Amino acid sequence: MGSSVIGASIAVNNKLQKDLVKKLRGAGRVVVLTGSGISAESGIPTFREAQSGLWSRYDPQELATPQAFKRNPKLVWEWYAWRREMVSTARPNPGHAALAELESILLLRSKRFTLITQNVDGLHQRAGSRNVVEIHGNLMRTKCAQEGRVITSWQDTGDSPPHCPNCGGFLRPDVVWFGENLSTQTQSDAQEAAQDCDAFFSIGTSSLIEPAASLPYIAQNNNAIVIEINPNRTPLTASADVVFPYLAGEFLPNFVRTTWLNPY
Ligand code: APR
Repeated sequence: MGSSVIGASIAVNNKLQKDLVKKLRGAGRVVVLTGSGISAESGIPTFREAQSGLWSRYDPQELATPQAFKRNPKLVWEWYAWRREMVSTARPNPGHAALAELESILLLRSKRFTLITQNVDGLHQRAGSRNVVEIHGNLMRTKCAQEGRVITSWQDTGDSPPHCPNCGGFLRPDVVWFGENLSTQTQSDAQEAAQDCDAFFSIGTSSLIEPAASLPYIAQNNNAIVIEINPNRTPLTASADVVFPYLAGEFLPNFVRTTWLNPY
């Protein structure tokens, strides 16, 4: 299906936009996939954007793989400690808030909403989102690198990384590194949601990293309308049914209210 690029304000006399609003209001289940772009307006850098993206300044092979952690656990632990610090001083932006508001609106109408995020920053939950599937883990959570179990407290001996209180192994952030598999639970939750929705939004992701990149196609093959919100083109853009080329934090609040709350 060809995609339509639509202006930011939804004009009620435009047939295309009226049809979209109708479709979205009728959707019994809405699924949203987010990437780092939704947190950009909170001051958290994305990954692949030229100049500002983390991977334009740092080498992921040195920081975000199991091999990197084996080679230099201190460097990896401290890089994540820096990112944790950045996230803890950041605040959710209007884009996160609009998705939390959408969830509340849909729940009140007995409809379903699932937010799948590749982000590890926890900003969706801090904005009030409840049904969140964190497919790449969470930066604020720590696990034992040896046993894999989540560890919530340990003795601060000044070691970097600190040691697991159970086995003495290194602790590491509970995120999914390159070359690692998603947890089977999150993988199947994300897949199930994409298979069984009426509307699928892809917001602020370059749509390059699997398995997230395949989710919109799974949704589309199961007859969902696929909508992309991203100021830049991605591999998904040509296949999306509708594209809004805007910044999520500027676009979403008005879009959610106009689509689900305003009379038309
Ligand atoms: N609103 C919407 N989209 C935005 C905004 C914004 N304010 N700012 C940037 N973007 C878009 C960019 O145009 C780009 O397409 O966000 C996208 C960010 O892409 P990436 O940097 O590749 O980030 P992401 O898609 O989240 O990366 C996926 O790669 O390294 C891994 O694990 C990491 O989860 C991450 C995964």
